[in-house]
Amino acid sequence: MTAPTNRRPRVAWWRRPWVIPLGLGTVAFLAFSLPPYLSYDPAQTRVPAPPGFPEYYWILHTHIMFGTIALVTCCLQVWPWLRQRHPKIHRTSGRLYVLAGVLPSGLLALPVAIFSLSGPSAQTSSVLQALLWLGATIAGFRAARARRFREHRRWMVRSFALTTSIVVSRIWLVAVDAALKPTLETGFDGNELFFDQTVGGIAAWLSWVVNLLLAEWWLSRKPKRGGGRRPAPRTEGIGGAGSGGGEPKSAEVSLAAKVD
Ligand code: HEM
Repeated sequence: MTAPTNRRPRVAWWRRPWVIPLGLGTVAFLAFSLPPYLSYDPAQTRVPAPPGFPEYYWILHTHIMFGTIALVTCCLQVWPWLRQRHPKIHRTSGRLYVLAGVLPSGLLALPVAIFSLSGPSAQTSSVLQALLWLGATIAGFRAARARRFREHRRWMVRSFALTTSIVVSRIWLVAVDAALKPTLETGFDGNELFFDQTVGGIAAWLSWVVNLLLAEWWLSRKPKRGGGRRPAPRTEGIGGAGSGGGEPKSAEVSLAAKVD
């Protein structure tokens, strides 16, 4: 006789169309963004330090290293296969996401943004984004500790939307730059600094505001009739962490968000 299992039925990859773009986008972002910082050479930075503040490089550098942990573990958290087959790895990765990713990277993003030379619009956007990133993640973490798994899931979806906005921001930057380039002379009087700060500011705001709106839309979707959503299994913290069903009674504390 086979033992009963809590394993959820397989869902075709195309019913989770975000998995592959997210993985590829993250790899492309890290392959492009990280190399200049792996040499630990301030001369290689893409973000100039404000005059008289050479320590800025090390704050930025540490922000990026912890941000990398946040981004990689974020991808692991939303990977259905890992969540279902390796719940222990999933739980560990969830803890790393919060404690070794978002918290240190988000806190360091504040001085990075405040002293950045990217202009007031991008700076304001980044400060607000960092505060929301920290707030959503802490709220999700606290909800998990208190075993309020539905609430945990909702906050973590928002947290993931903010984490992945760093990847999307590069796409927005290219798109906004291309859209405004023809107006460099007419709209910006040929002033490249003004142009760059405007483009950077618009891209910075769009990257996380649009992501958060998409997350809210995702969370507000009604479950499909006839079993679009399955009831939450009642064991194993990860599988049970609130898939839109009730609060699992015997679930361990899970830092996992379920976004399917
Ligand atoms: C989501 C909240 C985040 C905020 C508010 C934030 C904020 C910032 C700010 C203000 C800068 C300086 C930009 C400038 O002055 O031009 C920066 C740079 C950077 N951040 Fe973050 N960041 C966040 C998340 C992340 C994550 C998750 C990563 C993942 C690796 C990351 C990687 C980087 C990199 C690589 C740079 C340097 C940019 C470059 O070399 O072009 N950030 N960040």
